[in-house]
Amino acid sequence: MASPRLIELWPAAGVRIRAGGVEMRWIDDELAVDLALLAGNGVHEEGSMPFNSPWTRGSAREVGRSVLSFQWAARPHVSAKRLVLEFGVLIDGEPVGIQGASADDWSVLREVETGSWLGRAHQGRGIGSRMRALMLHFCFEAMHAEHVVSAAFTDNAASNAVSLRTGYELDGVQRVVREGVAATQTRYRMDRDRWLQVRAANQQLIGADVEVIGVEALLADLEPVEPAS
Ligand SMILES: CC(C)(COP(=O)(O)OP(=O)(O)OC[C@H]1O[C@@H](n2cnc3c(N)ncnc32)[C@H](O)[C@@H]1OP(=O)(O)O)[C@@H](O)C(=O)NCCC(=O)NCCS
Repeated sequence: MASPRLIELWPAAGVRIRAGGVEMRWIDDELAVDLALLAGNGVHEEGSMPFNSPWTRGSAREVGRSVLSFQWAARPHVSAKRLVLEFGVLIDGEPVGIQGASADDWSVLREVETGSWLGRAHQGRGIGSRMRALMLHFCFEAMHAEHVVSAAFTDNAASNAVSLRTGYELDGVQRVVREGVAATQTRYRMDRDRWLQVRAANQQLIGADVEVIGVEALLADLEPVEPAS
């Protein structure tokens, strides 16, 4: 858990989202190691690849080190120009995966893109749906986002199902290179009006009151810097 001194200097470290037994929080080094070891144990079947960058290929050690380097590289990006928030997901205190969000030109576009993964042992039990619903709540209710987007390879049934179940609208397809071969992704989008239509259903999915901690100080860090006159 981030110390008060760290949170004072780096407010993003103090952000937490909680509902029932689910917690999403900033990834400190200890949690990063837990998540690295979890990913090393497998995130998907060998024959599939749900990610644009195939970071899950290789030995458990290589995958774990990839998680660490990604998380360490993500941390500095807390500004109006580029925002990257990576939250560790814990169920009753046990790390199970990551729910991330990023935004470019946040202060102008107010659009967040999300991504996520769970350790294999934790998949298919509704956690992915609950953590996405929590992320939507965080983006729209706490961050005051206007748009949230996501994309999934068309052959990733679980991820597509999560986006549909939480109420996103289809936003076209895109062709991308996956491990050297052309593949298709389905894009999803939710704007604020749509969120207001699906908020109650997502609240039911979450199944408990949501508590968001530490977001005001984070938002203050995202104020655009006035150009020097
Ligand atoms: C994608 C992921 C986060 C979804 O989380 P999850 O906890 O497994 O999903 P849930 O249990 O909430 O299930 C959501 C829906 O997917 C369906 N589903 C889950 N696993 C499935 C599978 N292997 N095949 C088909 N459908 C599946 C569920 O039936 C459910 O559908 P419903 O809403 O119609 O009932 C998780 O499976 C995962 O980490 N996968 C590997 C990494 C990944 O794909 N990340 C996303 C990259 S875009």
